[in-house]
Amino acid sequence: MSRIEIIHGDITKQAVDAIVNAANCSLLGGGGVDGAIHRAAGPELLAECRTLHGCETGKAKITRGYRLPAKYVIHTPGPVWRGGTHREDELLASCYRSCLTLADENGCKTVDFPSISTGVYAFPVERAAGIAIRTIGAFLADHPAIERVRMVCFDSRTRAAYDAALREWEARA
Ligand code: APR
Repeated sequence: MSRIEIIHGDITKQAVDAIVNAANCSLLGGGGVDGAIHRAAGPELLAECRTLHGCETGKAKITRGYRLPAKYVIHTPGPVWRGGTHREDELLASCYRSCLTLADENGCKTVDFPSISTGVYAFPVERAAGIAIRTIGAFLADHPAIERVRMVCFDSRTRAAYDAALREWEARA
């Protein structure tokens, strides 16, 4: 049974230990999944984010989940796609590793991710899916305490990209 799953859904509805927010470096909210998470969590989330003084691309910071069904929110600014010559692949992989490291340090057994950087930040979704699944798979191999990681896809094209990436990963494993 794979510890990585792909689902189609709304990440703000998931009752897991941690959900990841595809944030921006200010950590002060925005549109997309960032906006949805802040709306669902309520104003205390922004209040806590204000105390964090931002976050570098590829790094991650953790807060409580407040009115969300998830216990924690792990905020990570993904790279903006600029053609692939500005370390975008490396920075995206770093987002997944940084989030999973924080989840592990905080005793999270179940972690849900959105498709980081593939919306407003325009990272090609098939390329991002391969990076995400390979990075998550490698991390889980060394961290048995995390029981399950899901990619929560918001549309069918994204879902198809992550399904294909997971099938490829499992075929090689
Ligand atoms: N649940 C799961 N996934 C969602 C949800 C949701 N409720 N809402 C949007 N998404 C998906 C998008 O469809 C996309 O596949 O999250 C993925 C990431 O898209 P964005 O939210 O645009 O994030 P990103 O591309 O990383 O851009 C980040 O956008 O919202 C701003 O403040 C944010 O400046 C930052 C930038």
